[in-house]
Amino acid sequence: MSLNFTNEEARRVLDLRRALHQNPEPGNEETFATDLILKTLSSLGIETLRPLATGCVGVLKGGLPGPRVAFRADIDALPVTEETGVSFASLRPGCMHACGHDVHTAALLGAATLLVREKDRLPGTVLFVFQPDEEGDGGAARLLDSGVLDGVDRFFGCHVSPDLPAGTVGVRYGKFYAAADTFDAVFFGRGCHGATPEKGADALAAAALSVPRLKALPAEFLPERAVVNVGSFHAGTVRNIVADRAEIMGIIRTLGEETRAAMGERVSQTLSEAAAAYGAAAELTLRRGYPGVVNHDRETALVEERAAALFGPEKVVRIETPTMTTEDFGFYLQKAPGSFYHVGVGGEEPLHSPRFLPPEETVLTAARLHAALALGVRL
Ligand code: NI
Repeated sequence: MSLNFTNEEARRVLDLRRALHQNPEPGNEETFATDLILKTLSSLGIETLRPLATGCVGVLKGGLPGPRVAFRADIDALPVTEETGVSFASLRPGCMHACGHDVHTAALLGAATLLVREKDRLPGTVLFVFQPDEEGDGGAARLLDSGVLDGVDRFFGCHVSPDLPAGTVGVRYGKFYAAADTFDAVFFGRGCHGATPEKGADALAAAALSVPRLKALPAEFLPERAVVNVGSFHAGTVRNIVADRAEIMGIIRTLGEETRAAMGERVSQTLSEAAAAYGAAAELTLRRGYPGVVNHDRETALVEERAAALFGPEKVVRIETPTMTTEDFGFYLQKAPGSFYHVGVGGEEPLHSPRFLPPEETVLTAARLHAALALGVRL
């Protein structure tokens, strides 16, 4: 199984990446990308579905019986002004593919190119999922709600990673990306003269007490990593009045649903205890965000095995630690098993940098691996 691109095919796929890179669009405004993707899929003879205003899904039925397998690429860009200086740099000041989603999108179109060629020996049906708005509110949940992905048996996706050398593939078993929740807390006290604080209930002091206690909560979950951080604190009016109200805002990052639920409980308890210490009350609003990514073993083993077969075992890296960043791919893995992997791009610049520019060969690496997974997946 070679799964190589012809020179002409490779050129076409790399041109798609350049066109996408040059025309970045923020979440839910990806009309250039959607038109380009639809046009490309149609030219390959792939049926398309468009359940949302932007983004789309291509459906390719293989010649052999088999499962429904979805591959997801996110297509949105970031509010960053590009500083790479390349010939195909963003034409849009204040908008850039600084997270490599142009690479993900072109790679998935590349995989479609390869799989159309291999259609006769392709088992089941492949869905090419071009998802809008990963960086914003999360296009994944809306795409799933639309019903077009009902009945999918397996989900795969990838992200470029500057932490790994170009040409390598990073796999991770189990917990990979953190769940990202946010919280607001309002402390209600009782105001009085600052000279007689015993007559009031100090909301400011209660909120202040809660901050280091909240930040200490992750230690309770060691060796598992977690984060609780307070990034905003507002309380009080003048120096000689005990504050009757205080507000804090923070984030919670946890790995896996069990820790996520337990940490939510501990945050709630901690706020109540800190409030009670000053005779105040605390009201918590906890908002659940992206669920994080927890990979499934069998599908991750398939990624590892196929990547080793395509690129050599020395090119496959097992990622040792999970990341506390998040990714809405986790919504798909709550529906069916699958695996999310990294494609190494090397370089000095981190994701979201105005100088982030993955080498273009990484588009072909990801495309070939997606295609190999589609041909190799078994239930
Ligand atoms: Ni990204």
